[in-house]
Amino acid sequence: MEQTLAGKIILVTGAASGIGRASALRIAEAGAHVVVSDISEEGAAVASHIAQQGGSANFIRADVGSEADVAGLINDIVSSHGRIDGAFNNAGVVQCGKQLHTLSTEEWDRAIRIDLSGVFWCIKYQVIAMLEAGGGSIVNTASSLGAVAIPNASEYVAAKHGVMGLTRAAAADYGAAGIRVNAILPGIIQTPVIEELKQNPQFAAFLEKLRDRHPIGRFGEPREIGEAAAWLLSSSASFVNGAGIAVDGGYLAI
Ligand SMILES: NC(=O)c1ccc[n+]([C@@H]2O[C@H](COP(=O)([O-])OP(=O)(O)OC[C@H]3O[C@@H](n4cnc5c(N)ncnc54)[C@H](O)[C@@H]3O)[C@@H](O)[C@H]2O)c1
Repeated sequence: MEQTLAGKIILVTGAASGIGRASALRIAEAGAHVVVSDISEEGAAVASHIAQQGGSANFIRADVGSEADVAGLINDIVSSHGRIDGAFNNAGVVQCGKQLHTLSTEEWDRAIRIDLSGVFWCIKYQVIAMLEAGGGSIVNTASSLGAVAIPNASEYVAAKHGVMGLTRAAAADYGAAGIRVNAILPGIIQTPVIEELKQNPQFAAFLEKLRDRHPIGRFGEPREIGEAAAWLLSSSASFVNGAGIAVDGGYLAI
């Protein structure tokens, strides 16, 4: 595999599981040192796995829903490596599966804090470090639901639309400083979170219908998002800024 990220210091959040885990492995294969971060200590096993495969990684636990944790995370990376070249801001939580009028303020606040404010804090502290170093590449995980809605997911849909807005705003603020900011909009990807949602019979039935919304005829694999993330983080995507790349088997096309 071409080492398009050789020598780069790249952070992946939500990297203990699913899309983040697969992307951390893919980014390490491209030659980067990966800082595997997650609220779950399971992230340590991902860093060990990368090292066993001959790659380079370390684990730092952080809650992206805490500004202090995010600031500490970026500070630790800069203290250890002198800089941060790229970040895949991917950590997130799913919707509660409720109609908007039944959603509590606590449920709304949690989704916004982790799925939207978490991305804001990540971008903020990454940009501060990248301005010092003279550039970088930031990729955020939005969702198809950053462009369209489904029923019973208002807090998630609002947060992911917000991630798209933040991506474009940050691209406008920092493009001239050599910092590119882009987003990936995954369709349904087979990760533990989807397995968890399937426990709700109503959502399981809805998911079957959603398969038909993916013209490619299947759901995605986490690694397929990792491919897009690795590309956007690399200089191969040097003129891509403020973009929302749908990696969704055509979900948003129909
Ligand atoms: N799976 C899908 O179909 C799909 C589709 C579109 C978008 N997404 C988005 O992709 C991202 C990853 O989802 P996934 O499907 O891999 O889910 P996942 O549950 O497998 O992985 C999410 C990871 O984020 C971590 N996390 C949760 N809260 C955190 C916090 N406060 N701080 C740090 N880490 C935290 C979890 O511990 C977990 O390891 C999320 O942003 C999700 O919204 C997923």
